[in-house]
Amino acid sequence: MALVIRLFLLGILVSVITSVDRNNFKTCEQSSFCRRLRKIEPGHSKFELDLDTLTVTENGLDVTLKNIEDDASFKLTLTALADDRFHLFADEINGLHKRHRVEGIIENAPQVGKLTVQTRNKQMVVVQSGENKATLTASPFTIEFARKDKVVAVINARGLFMMEHFRRKPADEPVPEDAPAKTPEDPGSWEENFKSHHDSKPRGPEALGMDISFPGAQRAYGIPEHADSLALRTTGPGGLDPYRLYNLDVFEYEVDSTMAIYGSVPVLYAHGEDNTVGVYWQNAAETWVDVVNSKDGDVVSSIVKLVSGSKTEEKVDVHFMSESGVLDLYILMGPTPSAAVKQYASLTGVAPLPQLFSLGYHQCRWNYNDEEDVRSVVEKLDENDFPVDVVWLDIEYTEGKKYFTWDNIKFGHPEAMQHNLTATGRKLVGIIDPHVKRESGYFLHEDCLNNDYYVKTKDGNVYEGWCWPGSSSYPDFFDPKVFNYYANLYSLENFKGSTDQMYIWNDMNEPSVFNGPEITMPKDLLHYGGWEHRHVHNLYGIYYSMITFKGLLARNANKRPFQLTRAHYAGSQRYTAMWTGDNAAEWSHLAASYPMCLSEAIAGISFCGADIGGFFNNPDPELLTRWYQAAIWLPFFRQHAHIDTKRREPYLYSTEIQARIRSALKLRYAHLPLWYTEFYEHERSGEPVIRPLYYSYPKDKEVVDIDNQVLLGTSVLAQVVSEAGASSAQVYLPPNEIWYDILDFKAYQGNGHITVPVNADKIPAFYRGGSIVPRMDRPRRASTLMHDDPYTLYVNLDGNKSAKGTLYIDDYESYGYRKKKYLYVQFIYASNKLTATKIDKDADYPTLSWLERVVVLGAPKGFTSAVLTTKAGDTKLPVSYDAEGRSLTVRKPGVSMREEFTITLH
Ligand code: NOJ
Repeated sequence: MALVIRLFLLGILVSVITSVDRNNFKTCEQSSFCRRLRKIEPGHSKFELDLDTLTVTENGLDVTLKNIEDDASFKLTLTALADDRFHLFADEINGLHKRHRVEGIIENAPQVGKLTVQTRNKQMVVVQSGENKATLTASPFTIEFARKDKVVAVINARGLFMMEHFRRKPADEPVPEDAPAKTPEDPGSWEENFKSHHDSKPRGPEALGMDISFPGAQRAYGIPEHADSLALRTTGPGGLDPYRLYNLDVFEYEVDSTMAIYGSVPVLYAHGEDNTVGVYWQNAAETWVDVVNSKDGDVVSSIVKLVSGSKTEEKVDVHFMSESGVLDLYILMGPTPSAAVKQYASLTGVAPLPQLFSLGYHQCRWNYNDEEDVRSVVEKLDENDFPVDVVWLDIEYTEGKKYFTWDNIKFGHPEAMQHNLTATGRKLVGIIDPHVKRESGYFLHEDCLNNDYYVKTKDGNVYEGWCWPGSSSYPDFFDPKVFNYYANLYSLENFKGSTDQMYIWNDMNEPSVFNGPEITMPKDLLHYGGWEHRHVHNLYGIYYSMITFKGLLARNANKRPFQLTRAHYAGSQRYTAMWTGDNAAEWSHLAASYPMCLSEAIAGISFCGADIGGFFNNPDPELLTRWYQAAIWLPFFRQHAHIDTKRREPYLYSTEIQARIRSALKLRYAHLPLWYTEFYEHERSGEPVIRPLYYSYPKDKEVVDIDNQVLLGTSVLAQVVSEAGASSAQVYLPPNEIWYDILDFKAYQGNGHITVPVNADKIPAFYRGGSIVPRMDRPRRASTLMHDDPYTLYVNLDGNKSAKGTLYIDDYESYGYRKKKYLYVQFIYASNKLTATKIDKDADYPTLSWLERVVVLGAPKGFTSAVLTTKAGDTKLPVSYDAEGRSLTVRKPGVSMREEFTITLH
């Protein structure tokens, strides 16, 4: 047995060190339901609406949808929702079993909208809601969604819709002798094998598929998580496998791949210059999505078009295929990228404002060996002038991978260790994974066994899998008793050795099961309510995040929790930050960090980052430096590394490399006020903190494929440099804007692609002319030490010599802001005058921060002084220009950030 275990662990280690073992994961062709749904011939839909059954209310309609070949009926409901949205829902009528419906993800029941019938006859019904129209056609079954009479989405346009009704297994039913011969079923319909794993499929086939066409769309985006480009590529039989959504622990995943990895967020946006439409496919089962971009159309049809001169409109076709579940689809009518994202955010929620410290720098590795190691890492970061806010502990801090315990030898004084950290303004994050070591005497295992908290096998026994601790079982977090029990484990009484300055990292929550099919749970395991694992798989991770959030909040109801997760689903943003898992120290993985986080951000999850340096293997100093330079422009900012890698804390490098990393870190810290303000505004509006170019420049066709650049709000544009030895970079600077280099303030008139020089010290990063960026330019060791620091405002003038921006201030950690304890200030610069006014007059916060400097980029020459005007009167201030005349500085206005003021240049 010991040998088997050793060989097994060796197998894992080998696959960790080499690259992904594709054989461990299914292709669509190896998955029966994907095969079945992909085989449906277009143009022969066997579904029809029975419009005689139509009932209409002022918000929606109900109608029977029939499978005319197989005599099965479904109730289809279309509801108009407020804010230009529709909801389409269908469930089986008198099904043999219940179909699974996702619960707990839609934050609040959406407000309904008004709907009126425009036309109704035997063949179709047309309903109107505001500027939007839905046309339901009976046969073949289609639904067209139009905005201002322009069709933007068509359901079942290609006739691929399929909702497999529950049946008895054919062998169980007598077959009449004269029955016509049937086409044989897919061999995996009633049970399926993958490698050595058997799936017993007790309910038989129950898949759900739907195609949606988006006329006018040039690209589709969303459906993270994939290590792929932001714009979804064309997939299809013979070509790329469909994008897969099935939370999986994929060792050393590959980039440029549609394979599933740790998270699944089934929201997709189809974008064209005139319209953006979103669809949220709410389903927790394994899902595959085929995408066809008309731009990639086959050669023959392109020639026909050329010869006939016909101009076909661009479009994107997608095909969602899920293993089970009801049809639960939200249509987000846009019409802009930002409208569609907000429509989605008002369904699944926004990220609550994080504590400021969590936007600082996080130092992690698997593992910091002991308390002395933790102490010395912080000390060396301090000595070498690298700011840091958080030190992280990976699984080795526990006693034998038993979570909620501490290794007594290496971490014998956890509270003192945390106090030492907090004494210098730092925090601790510790890992807690969902698998439970099956060791008698371990309180968690005993509790779960005694109270029947574990996930069960199909035969009702406790399921045993293999994970870090060896033999493990998995609590069933869908059971409310287990949910509450586990949340309680985070209380300071229960989690001995933790303090309220310790935050939580949840990993392996896909869930990861080393010896399970595709490194996860068998699909026929049983959860609370009798649901099989297949029905709920993609929710396991988010339920775990919900528990942690509840647990942390219960420690201190006035402290905003911080946690990090690997597995995620739609709505995870309400509880947690996420990271892109086990990437590698390769340039391609650095490049992938931008599109991966951008894709999460438009899918509601802005608080995203990638392990700096790459988790596997050792980055060379250049790659590590470039990684820091790029990562300062992603929301979650953490260095992390595999246990077998060399140490890579920034102070271990040459003076030159250290200087570059230090500058990157300091640039991040200087921009913390901007990050914090952006997160606050995200909570208010639902707009992503980081944005792809298409999001902010939707009419610009040139930007639809750009995903190596991020916008931070509307102020900063940065581009990752992901090649060794780069001395220049091609950057796209959106037209009609001025862009100022953040470091040397050189102004560029945006006019599409330009080549800019880069050197080892910097990557391309610009302020948008027209923005005002609040900064804190005094270097500190941690963000906690910056709470009362003075501000510098960077006023970046546009072509009209004006600019605007905002600043948000509070206590940086509590929920006081929900009780109006904050300052939210608007800055407007026009006609040589900067004005600061409070946006929410009824909110206030007694900040000690004051205005240290105003730096104006693009200011005309000739100003000699400035006048600060406050309630107290006028004060004359000196101004100066830098040597090149690129910036003008007003020094020491000294006014409190709590006050309204103006500064006028003369
Ligand atoms: C897998 C995670 O992705 C990685 O970040 C972590 O270090 C290891 N598990 C060990 O906990």
